[in-house]
Amino acid sequence: MRYFFLVFALIVVLVVSFFGFRGEKFSSTPLRLFPDMDDQDKIKSQTPSDFFSDGMGARKPVAGTVPRGFADGSSYSYGNSTDYVHTGRFGDAYGDGMPKSIGFNVKTAAGILRHGKERYNISCMPCHGESGNGKGAAAVIGIPIVPSLMNFPKEKYPDGQMFETISNGKGQMGGYGYNIPINDRWAIIAYVRALQSANSTAAK
Ligand code: HEC
Repeated sequence: MRYFFLVFALIVVLVVSFFGFRGEKFSSTPLRLFPDMDDQDKIKSQTPSDFFSDGMGARKPVAGTVPRGFADGSSYSYGNSTDYVHTGRFGDAYGDGMPKSIGFNVKTAAGILRHGKERYNISCMPCHGESGNGKGAAAVIGIPIVPSLMNFPKEKYPDGQMFETISNGKGQMGGYGYNIPINDRWAIIAYVRALQSANSTAAK
């Protein structure tokens, strides 16, 4: 029995010296049999690193990088501007028509529409189709919920509302405000209106 207590005391001392008291914090890295991902090579922000030849941990953006929301090359599409050209709204109500700063008139219309067509074909056609009938490539591969843009005529769906849909998305459609510059969005709207009027003329 004497030996038992002796051995027991020894074990207690050993265990405590190895593992410490309950709740005690360690500063050294714990032993990990299966490290998973809690220990990994990384560079903390603002610290030096000998991994790169210039000794800096932080990297500069690759030349030509465009930050999200700065597709215009300005901070305009990102700011808190509340005017019509940036929001499609006058106060709480949607506006209609091209904003003045777009400079849409008889002389510029052809150029803006051509530009709008090019941008539409890049950003909208894959889903909404070349003619806006909602039968783009996405519908072909089986995404059936893309609506025809013919269902959103000016009378029901003012330009400002379309601007908001392009900028922020609607329902299942994501927003494109972060990568379609403001002027391009308005040019796309002008082109969608041209598609609609071509369609309504054809239908009569
Ligand atoms: C990735 C596919 C996709 C792309 C790209 C896309 N859309 Fe859509 N769009 C949709 C879907 C899906 C809906 C239906 C959303 C819903 O009702 O949930 C929709 C709805 C709309 C609507 C009606 C929204 C409403 O208020 O009901 C308009 C207008 C529209 N899109 C315009 C555009 C324009 C303009 C572009 C190009 C800038 C564009 N979309 C790009 C998929 C897309």
